[in-house]
Amino acid sequence: MSKKIQIITALTALTVLGVALAQTPPAAPAAAPAGPTPAERAIEYRQAVYKIVAGNFGPLTQVAQGKADFNADTARKNATRLAQIAGFVGDAYPDISKEGKTRALPAIWSNRAEFDAIVKDFNTHTKTLSDVVENSSSAGTELKAAVAAVGNDCKTCHEKFRSK
Ligand code: HEC
Repeated sequence: MSKKIQIITALTALTVLGVALAQTPPAAPAAAPAGPTPAERAIEYRQAVYKIVAGNFGPLTQVAQGKADFNADTARKNATRLAQIAGFVGDAYPDISKEGKTRALPAIWSNRAEFDAIVKDFNTHTKTLSDVVENSSSAGTELKAAVAAVGNDCKTCHEKFRSK
């Protein structure tokens, strides 16, 4: 394409665009900036809580399964954080977070007592795990049992209250 044709093409395009713009009706009043709704925010928050749960429990299961070496400082850090974040789980289910891009099943809200009982176990078992790790110098039987108890809570809750 010659320079001249290129320029003419560009000018034509601009003219067409200009006409189109000129015919555009006056803009509607600016809409509120798009952002997450309160429901979306609540769901994202909950999922973030579980990411932190998993991020701290994962290394402890590795240790319990002999796939990673026991390191007292790391294990203590993970177990302490897990016990703390477990306390956020029960509060992460406000009514507005029932519907949306979530795997949380409606049964959580219709069967709250059973759900809360698992949350309570989860808090008890993560606290126990934290105490056991505090007094451990290796991945012994007690530590393995404490990890298993927490893992069982994850599994119980997921099977009953989380969609596939
Ligand atoms: C009391 C119930 C309950 C317990 C206990 C629980 N979970 Fe979950 N978990 C859920 C539900 C429900 C969801 C779905 C959340 C959503 O999509 O809004 C979920 C989601 C997750 C997710 C996905 C988060 C994401 O990115 O969307 C991970 C990872 C996870 N759980 C790991 C764990 C681990 C590991 C444990 C145990 C250490 C655990 N959970 C304990 C109920 C539970």
